[in-house]
Amino acid sequence: MKIRVFETPSDAGLYVAALAERVVLDVPNPVLGLATGSTSCPFYQAFVKFEKCGLDLSRTTTINLDEYIGLPDTHPQSYHYFMNEQLFDHVNIPRDQIFIPDGAAADLHAECERYDDIIRKHPIDFQILGIGVNGHIGFNEPNDLLLSRTHVVELSHDTIASNARFFTDVSEVPRKAITMGVQAILQARQIVLMAFGKEKAHIVSRAIQGEVRTDIPASILQLHRDVTIVLDKLSASEL
Ligand code: GLP
Repeated sequence: MKIRVFETPSDAGLYVAALAERVVLDVPNPVLGLATGSTSCPFYQAFVKFEKCGLDLSRTTTINLDEYIGLPDTHPQSYHYFMNEQLFDHVNIPRDQIFIPDGAAADLHAECERYDDIIRKHPIDFQILGIGVNGHIGFNEPNDLLLSRTHVVELSHDTIASNARFFTDVSEVPRKAITMGVQAILQARQIVLMAFGKEKAHIVSRAIQGEVRTDIPASILQLHRDVTIVLDKLSASEL
């Protein structure tokens, strides 16, 4: 694992955008695995600027990690909305090369299978990850076992409480989500996990310096051969 500690999240975002640019330039039809959450915003801000300076994303495919169940795409807290606002409305990635799980699908089981099929057809070159305060990646929550495939998940109390900051009331936070499984994440050629702020310091240290355990899903990244952990001073403070 490589660990890079930056002065600020925006410096870190620039670094990750430079890593992503390398992949976009080197791979004929690059596939980026994308994440949501406030942590990923500095990366998207930098990446949009790169595109404005001439980086061509027209051959890029993107596959998002997860989506809430029960929010329409037009809801400002849906991950569809987030991705449009942060990235897709500003860059030239063709819409038919953008994939996000459909949390409004009538048949969620079929949606999970459809998504796994998409991942199979578009092996991920570069996977961006954040980390939940409880160690989740995507919405793979702490559990006795981690599911390999795309699946429907009941969100944990920790996650609901943590994500409540984006809603007017905790009762509005969806209780379920659809998430890519750990197999798809670990099959990505290169993984970059970002974490910023003091509240992530403890889980970052447990995930990358502790044992590999299913109740800290991010710890499984220790088994991958090309992972970069991108931190700021605060999130690195317990290493
Ligand atoms: C969300 C997302 C994750 C994200 C994490 C951290 O619930 N499902 O993909 O990494 O929680 O969010 P934030 O970056 O806002 O702290």
